[in-house]
Amino acid sequence: MIVFENVTKRYGRTAVLDRLNLSVLRGEFVSVIGPSGAGKSTLIYCLMGAEKIQHGRISVDGYVVNEMDERALQYFRRRIGVVFQDYKLLPQKNVYENVAFALEVCGYETADIKKRVPEVLETVGLHEKFRQFPHQLSGGEKQRLATARALVHNPSLLLADEPTGNLDPATAKGIIDLFLKINKDGITVILTTHNPLLVDHIRKRVITMDKGKVVSDRQHSGYHLEIK
Ligand SMILES: Nc1ncnc2c1ncn2[C@@H]1O[C@H](COP(=O)(O)OP(=O)(O)OP(=O)(O)O)[C@@H](O)[C@H]1O
Ligand SMILES: [Mg+2]
Repeated sequence: MIVFENVTKRYGRTAVLDRLNLSVLRGEFVSVIGPSGAGKSTLIYCLMGAEKIQHGRISVDGYVVNEMDERALQYFRRRIGVVFQDYKLLPQKNVYENVAFALEVCGYETADIKKRVPEVLETVGLHEKFRQFPHQLSGGEKQRLATARALVHNPSLLLADEPTGNLDPATAKGIIDLFLKINKDGITVILTTHNPLLVDHIRKRVITMDKGKVVSDRQHSGYHLEIK
């Protein structure tokens, strides 16, 4: 279970997260929407411990993220997969190597890497592109590669910050369907998006943020949500 308690994150004097409270249960799929600058990405960064908070507490399964030192954070992040809008792929490594590298840095054995990487590339439909480099992939393929890399170590939590921002509607839907499948397998998913159509497609819990606070929290009930 993920709990944000009274969390304040400031850049200078501006509170980007403003006494924010939020709980997410294990296995949930949560979409986070809200206007640009609302604090959605900041929420993700603080949850993975990449940004420090000034007040409050963020815990995951009882472990307090904002109190972890770098070493503890390294271990904690092994349970998390993160997908960013700009992919953050390694340009000098091919598809296979990009995914394998994520396991190498975690100290996995070569035999395990050789078994696991093809499996996850199959899951995202990139099994025929092992040897291609990022610049030889389409936007959707890069996004799927980023997703494969986020999933290869079997995380229990997937954080996806605008993972479909640059994709055409059909490709975006493909990525979301992959997330829904992963979620069905029991992985908690937190996704930020600007796209109301995706939220309608997902039909799960929707949190709206504005000015660093959660201003609405509801179960998608099938109607088209109005998005500012
Ligand atoms: N490193 C930083 N230094 C100063 N201000 C920052 C920094 N990162 C983010 N901010 C500010 O924090 C606010 C929230 O940013 P954040 O990226 O979380 O918004 P967002 O909801 O993800 O927006 P978008 O929908 O455009 O991605 C913005 O006003 C932004 O300018
Ligand atoms: Mg953002």
